[in-house]
Amino acid sequence: MVKEVLEWWNLGKGKIIVDGTLGLGGHTKAILEATNAEVTIYAFDWNEESLSLAKERLKDYMDRVKFIPKNFVFIREFLEKEGVRADGVLLDLGLSSFLLEGSGLGFSFQRDEPLDMRMSKTLRVKAKDVLNRASFEELSKILQEGEVPKAKTFAKMLIQKRKISPFETTQDLVMAVKEFYKPSYKKEKDLLALVFQAFRIYVNQELENLKRALREIPEILAVGGRFLVISYHSLEDREVKRAFQRDTRLEVLTKKPITPSPEEIKKNPRARSAKMRVAERRS
Ligand SMILES: C[S@@+](CC[C@H](N)C(=O)[O-])C[C@H]1O[C@@H](n2cnc3c(N)ncnc32)[C@H](O)[C@@H]1O
Repeated sequence: MVKEVLEWWNLGKGKIIVDGTLGLGGHTKAILEATNAEVTIYAFDWNEESLSLAKERLKDYMDRVKFIPKNFVFIREFLEKEGVRADGVLLDLGLSSFLLEGSGLGFSFQRDEPLDMRMSKTLRVKAKDVLNRASFEELSKILQEGEVPKAKTFAKMLIQKRKISPFETTQDLVMAVKEFYKPSYKKEKDLLALVFQAFRIYVNQELENLKRALREIPEILAVGGRFLVISYHSLEDREVKRAFQRDTRLEVLTKKPITPSPEEIKKNPRARSAKMRVAERRS
């Protein structure tokens, strides 16, 4: 939703923008191209490989971008140390196509890769550690929070399976899903996506990070500064909607979330679930 992001920002001279989820730099590049030498971007991403690929793609703009290899929960702390406030902050949550298809970290059920799922090497626990070591209660909670159907009975089955052979690869998990849900669930791909997403959210503490960022980022927004969040599933969107409504410093500018155009969805089907909400700091 690059066009939509550009439309919701007032990108004039001297503005400071924070891209909290740089990825391979798609949004940042579009902002840089649209603004000549007027805007400085603080670009965060905790995936070291994405950050170095983005640096290469953005090498013509080095003087206008600061690359920060950190979790976006540290945006407030970082900007406070720099002594600046942001005129715009973007969080484009979740996975990039690089993480899904090119990282080898086991995010995709369509590949056969080690079950890692850590977006950042600073995280200690891999998805396979969770699958092989978590208690029944923990596994059930992870699956329930990810809105996976029949979470408890599936958790029980995972525990039985790991006793026979520990989980190592994405295909071990795919087989368990297919075995457990067959033949009652026709939408096998949706189910696989949901199970993989549940473990990914847990391993990367995605909802905890999002909640903290939603609390802290309004503090470093300049008055009139805008906070844009693009989410990809209802668990995230619910948090964004609630946090924006609750925060008395913010005015919500999007009554309903902005969604991608049919053309964008045609070009990039993964964008179909994207929802963008925008709030402005008023005081
Ligand atoms: C959907 S992609 C962003 C794509 C980017 N907007 C673009 O145009 O190329 C999300 C990125 O956010 C990063 N990310 C996810 N959670 C993060 C966190 N808590 N802190 C920093 N980066 C995070 C991921 O590593 C990934 O590269």
